[in-house]
Amino acid sequence: MSNNIEGKVIVITGASSGLGEATARHLAAQGGAVVLGARRAERIEALAEEINTGGGRALAVQTDVTDRGQVQRLVDAAVEAYGRVDVVVNNAGIMPLSPIERLRVEEWDRMVDVNIKGVLYGVAAALPYFQQQKAGHFINVSSVAGHKVFSASAVYSATKSAVRAFSEGLRQEVKPYNVRTTVISPGAVRTELLDHISEEDVQKAHQDYVGQVGVPAESFARLVAFAIGQPEDVDINEILFRPTAQEL
Ligand SMILES: NC(=O)c1ccc[n+]([C@@H]2O[C@H](COP(=O)([O-])OP(=O)(O)OC[C@H]3O[C@@H](n4cnc5c(N)ncnc54)[C@H](OP(=O)(O)O)[C@@H]3O)[C@@H](O)[C@H]2O)c1
Repeated sequence: MSNNIEGKVIVITGASSGLGEATARHLAAQGGAVVLGARRAERIEALAEEINTGGGRALAVQTDVTDRGQVQRLVDAAVEAYGRVDVVVNNAGIMPLSPIERLRVEEWDRMVDVNIKGVLYGVAAALPYFQQQKAGHFINVSSVAGHKVFSASAVYSATKSAVRAFSEGLRQEVKPYNVRTTVISPGAVRTELLDHISEEDVQKAHQDYVGQVGVPAESFARLVAFAIGQPEDVDINEILFRPTAQEL
């Protein structure tokens, strides 16, 4: 019986580490052709080589999701290489948490650019293909922080709430094209996400917490596979998951 992943062409942004990298490995092992986007070319090229050498199918395309043209190039490359695009996982994101009064305005700008505009560009790049195919699947990554606001999370939470609001509008509007939409909101997962928090006190508090309760990135990858793997007439719209030990 088909797992509904085998043979699909799946674009993943932020595939150079953490959730995106784990998802690429997991979906490739289930027979998906994965097209990997991130800025660190050497990381995605090594991952693509590992997958191809192991008998899977993968392509690496260096991509900065804040540049609309580069995101279009990523999706076009998937179609050129494999003939179609079935799923786009808009996963690239950053979380430089800080209290508002410290006015890390440049980091606010970057979060808006990567976490919101990056997702919008991913949708803009693939939607014309999906409309033409009358099939497709967007998987957008929000966060528990898109459901709850906590200390130092105001701007990050705002960007992740935006992903949820946009994804609900998208869900409603793409019905005529038979397109599925899924938002996944993870809790604490052990990745490189906290490495880029510039406020040391905030970083330490989160590293301690995620170090205690965080789960491996494969937890997320399994949920992506679950959403894609449903029969085409079943649309998993939202998944919110946490480590069992996470209180917030
Ligand atoms: N880990 C968690 O606990 C958690 C919880 C909730 C939500 N999330 C969300 O999950 C997603 C993945 O994060 P992660 O935890 O896997 O963190 P991560 O290990 O830091 O991975 C982030 C990925 O995003 C990519 N990225 C960052 N800026 C980019 C840009 N401008 N263009 C293209 N790619 C960019 C990075 O690649 P390059 O640096 O190579 O470009 C990297 O592959 C994010 O949206 C994050 O907000 C994570």
